[in-house]
Amino acid sequence: IQVSPFDLVVFGGTGDLAARKLLPALFHRDAAGQIPDDARIIGVSRRPLSREAYVDVVRAALDQFVKTADKTPEAVDRFVARIHYLPADASSEAGWGDLASLLNSGSERVRAFYFAVSPDLFAPLSQRIRQFGLVTPESRVVLEKPLGKDGASARAVNDAVAEVFAESQVFRIDHYLGKETVQNLMALRFANRLFEPLWNSTHIDHVQITVAEDIGVGDRSGYYNTSGAMRDMLQNHIMQLLCLTAMEPPDAFEADAVRDEKLKVLKALKRIDDRNAEQMTVRAQYRAGSAGGKPAAGYLDELGEDSKTETFVAIRAEIANWRWAGVPFFLRTGKRLTKRTSEIVVNFRPISHNIFDATAGRVSQNRLILRLQPDEGVTLEVTIKDPGPGGMRLRRIPLDMSFAETFGVANPDAYERLLMDVIRGNQTLFMRSDEVAAAWQWVDPIYAAWANNDQRVHGYAAGTWGPSAAVALIERDGRTWFEDSE
Ligand code: BG6
Repeated sequence: IQVSPFDLVVFGGTGDLAARKLLPALFHRDAAGQIPDDARIIGVSRRPLSREAYVDVVRAALDQFVKTADKTPEAVDRFVARIHYLPADASSEAGWGDLASLLNSGSERVRAFYFAVSPDLFAPLSQRIRQFGLVTPESRVVLEKPLGKDGASARAVNDAVAEVFAESQVFRIDHYLGKETVQNLMALRFANRLFEPLWNSTHIDHVQITVAEDIGVGDRSGYYNTSGAMRDMLQNHIMQLLCLTAMEPPDAFEADAVRDEKLKVLKALKRIDDRNAEQMTVRAQYRAGSAGGKPAAGYLDELGEDSKTETFVAIRAEIANWRWAGVPFFLRTGKRLTKRTSEIVVNFRPISHNIFDATAGRVSQNRLILRLQPDEGVTLEVTIKDPGPGGMRLRRIPLDMSFAETFGVANPDAYERLLMDVIRGNQTLFMRSDEVAAAWQWVDPIYAAWANNDQRVHGYAAGTWGPSAAVALIERDGRTWFEDSE
């Protein structure tokens, strides 16, 4: 179904995010017929380009980042016909009058401002938008991460934006929430009888959330070095996954109902600080090693200076509430790991009594594995009898569902779903400002502890699963990381 007519203004229109994610996502939705004829996409950046020159930028982005069959010449022409461009930036009034006339020339419609720029521009951009009277009742603003670098700076950004936009108009994007499997986690939990009765400390032993990347920081080291794995991935993506895994059932699949429950999880996280950071967290940096069978440089060599920024972080988290007391949630993420894989692994407790004798072999514990990437799907590991006449031999097998195989379609990119939600005004898959604040409230004391205790930055060879300290972190608890036990 088509969304309502809209004007989408992309600040940072010539940037990397626009090229890699936003323009391709809009293109796919357009090719799928979801975007109405008179919708406009307005690129804005400080570069003094003509509309024609910007259309070339857009065409080049589509060439590089859209490889699917829907990229027909007609579809590309239709898409570029929507494109406009205006040079403007927050530092001066130049160009803003033109933006105002362009926006006001359209019919009554949804107006979305996408801030695909550095967060220090969020406040000044909001001010200009207000100064030029661009906020209509049907306006929305989309904020890209990182939203601040700690609780205080995130609050400053949120407050500045709140002077111009109501909370119901603010869409804080976490693209992990747009991933198909992440939404499926909610369907699996709340549209099935099967899992929810078992979804608690009585039946679940522990949960692992891993977001592993094989890429290094590449040419993003300038940004990355001020951020690190914790701010770049854990404070947002992984904590959102944690919330959706652990939250109570909301009473409706609606923005505030879902976000209220996520907020409760964040608030119930046990504090990690000076007293226990050493036991509960591991930070590490990749050293030289290999990537894709070739030698790969270490982080410091790529950066060209000394740094304590972590490219890997592992945390043993706990949620202090009735449902989860005593169940560890092991979180980890890193660059230059063995492979790109993201998954949530729910490990169930052992059966309460084993009726089989030793010849049957070990009774494995059930596991539910939600794969976010590379091949999105769900696996439930169960124990069955090995087929054949050999007597009762037990064996663990996967009940496996790959979305691509089952449905025969490639999943849409997360941004496709999220951009359409912005136009529809549906905030369910976006973070509310109190959620962001609560996430920082848990993360800030960890940073403080690292700094106060001068906690060690471990090393790991590029192409491995991270430092041995991360293995020790989980093994102290008598558990192992998922891939280690395969
Ligand atoms: C981004 C991070 O938010 O997510 C990047 O800034 C990271 O460092 C990326 O590479 C990973 O996203 P995805 O969708 O490829 O898992």
